[in-house]
Amino acid sequence: MKIRLLAIVCLSFFYFTSCKDQSPQNKDVEVSLSDSTYYKEMYRPQFHFSPEEKWMNDPNGLVYHQGLYHLFYQYYPEDIVWGPMHWGHAVSKDMVLWEHRPIALYPDKHGLIFSGSAVVDVDNSSEFGTKEKPPLVAIYTNHDMDGEQAGRNDFQTQGIAYSLDNGDSFTKFEGNPVIGNEGIRDFRDPKVFWHEESKSWIMALVAGDHAQFYRSDNLKEWNFISDFGKDKGAHGGVWECPDLFPLRVEGIDEYKWVLLISINPGAPNGGSGTQYFIGDFDGTQFTSGQEEARWLDWGTDNYAGVTYNNTPGGDRLFIGWMSNWDYARDTPTKRWRSSMTLPRKLTLQKVNDRYALVNYPIKSLDKLRLEGQTRLISLPSKSMEKIEAEELQQSEIIFNSSSRDFSLAFKNEQKEVLEIVLDSETKKLVLDRRNSGQTNFKDAFGNKLHNMPLSDLPDGEVEFRIVMDWSSIEIFINKGQYVMTAQVFPNTPFNVLELTNTAEKEFHADDFKIFPLRSIWSP
Ligand code: FRU
Repeated sequence: MKIRLLAIVCLSFFYFTSCKDQSPQNKDVEVSLSDSTYYKEMYRPQFHFSPEEKWMNDPNGLVYHQGLYHLFYQYYPEDIVWGPMHWGHAVSKDMVLWEHRPIALYPDKHGLIFSGSAVVDVDNSSEFGTKEKPPLVAIYTNHDMDGEQAGRNDFQTQGIAYSLDNGDSFTKFEGNPVIGNEGIRDFRDPKVFWHEESKSWIMALVAGDHAQFYRSDNLKEWNFISDFGKDKGAHGGVWECPDLFPLRVEGIDEYKWVLLISINPGAPNGGSGTQYFIGDFDGTQFTSGQEEARWLDWGTDNYAGVTYNNTPGGDRLFIGWMSNWDYARDTPTKRWRSSMTLPRKLTLQKVNDRYALVNYPIKSLDKLRLEGQTRLISLPSKSMEKIEAEELQQSEIIFNSSSRDFSLAFKNEQKEVLEIVLDSETKKLVLDRRNSGQTNFKDAFGNKLHNMPLSDLPDGEVEFRIVMDWSSIEIFINKGQYVMTAQVFPNTPFNVLELTNTAEKEFHADDFKIFPLRSIWSP
C-alpha cells in the first residue's frame, strides 16, 4: 500500500517536471500519468531496483540503520546519460520492496559526489550526533570537474557528510576534504567499516592500479596505513569501488578477508567487471597469496558492486550495478537508465583447495514467487522439449540436474533468441545474446559470446537457477558458485523456452519449475 501511495505522489511530481515536455509527437517520453502505467515502460525491470527516471550507476552507501536498508546510488537527475553526480536514495525493510526517497547528496564546492559508503557511528566518534542519536555518516569522493578540465591530477578528494534523520537529509562536514590528493588521477570510492579488533575505522580506497588503506578514530582524520595489489590480479583497466570484509569459510572454523575490486575495462567478457581477492587483514595490511584474478560474476552486467555495513544477523549482502561502461550510456531505455542486480548474499567456500566467493539471491526474494508450473523432464539424447510460458519475461526457472550438456533457448514471436549452452567437454557455459533483440545500439553489446568456465563445478546434481526480468538475465549455478548476469533487450517478450539435450545420454530433471514473479512496483 505504501508503494502505491508513493507512486501517486511521484506521478504528480513528474507531471510538473519531466511531463511538461510531453507532446503527441514526442513518443520517446512514455511518462506514466496513471497508476496503471507506473513502472510499466518497455524493458522496465519489475522486481529489480531502478530509479523512477534518469541516469543511475553504482550503488553507494549501503548500510542498515534503524530498521531500514539504505540504497544510495550514483545519480544524475537531469538526463539519462552520465552527468554531474548526486547520491540518489531509496530505502527498504527487506531489500525486496523499495521506497524512493529524495536525493541525499548534491554536488558542492569540492565537486561532484562520486561513489562511497556509509556507516552508523554508534559511539558518536565523529561528534556529529550524540550517543543516543548516533549519526549516519557518508564517506564519498568529491570530483572537481574544473580541476580535471584544467588538466590537473589532484581533482579527486574524499569528503564526509552526516545525517541525523536516518538518511533523509545530510550536512556536509565543513572540514572537507578529509583526505586530500597529492596527484593521483584516479583516487576514489572510499569504503569504510568499523574494525572491532583494532577499535578503529578502516577505509579501503583505490588509487589507479591498486588499493590503499587508511585508519581513523573519528572519521574526520585519516592516516594512510598500507596498500595492496599493484602486481596482483587483473590490471586491464583502472581499479574502482573496493570493499574489504571478513567471511567465515563454510563448514570449517576459518575466517578469511575478501577484497572486492571492480575493474574497467579488463573483465573476462569485456568492459567492466568485479574481481575478488581472498586473504588476511591484520588491522593494517591486507595480504593474499592469490596472484590471479577471480571473478565474482562472469557476466558483462554486474559492476561496482559492494556490500552492506551493519546488517542485522551479520549476513554479507551485496548489490551491483547491472550494466557495463562499454555501453551503459546507449541501452535502449528512454525514461530511466539501468538497474541494480538482485541483492545477493555472499558466502565463502573452499572448493578443490581454493577459496571461492559465492553469490546467491537473498532468501526474502522467494516471496515474490507466484504459483508456477512444475514438470518432470526426461529427454532422450539429442532431443528438445518446448515449453510455452507467457510469464518467462518476469520469472524464475529452477531445476536440479546432473547433466552438463544441454542448452536453453529463450525465444519470442520475432524469432529473437537468447541462448545458454553448457558443454561438458569444454567445461563451459556460453551465453549468446547476439540475436536476442536490440543489440546494435553499441557494438560491444552484441558482438560476442560470453564464456563462463565451470571447472570447479562438482559432479552430480546441482541447482540451475535463472532469473529473468524484462531486460536482464541472472544465472546462478550450484547456488551461486558460478554466476552470470547480462542485460538483454528483446523486441517482444520471450514466451517460449526450448530445452535441448545435447548429451549422448538422457537429460533428467525431476522438478523443472517456472515461477512467475510478482512486480514490486505495483500495488
Ligand atoms: C564506477 C565509477 C566510480 C566513480 C563513479 C562515478 O562505475 O567510475 O569509480 O566513483 O563510477 O560515477
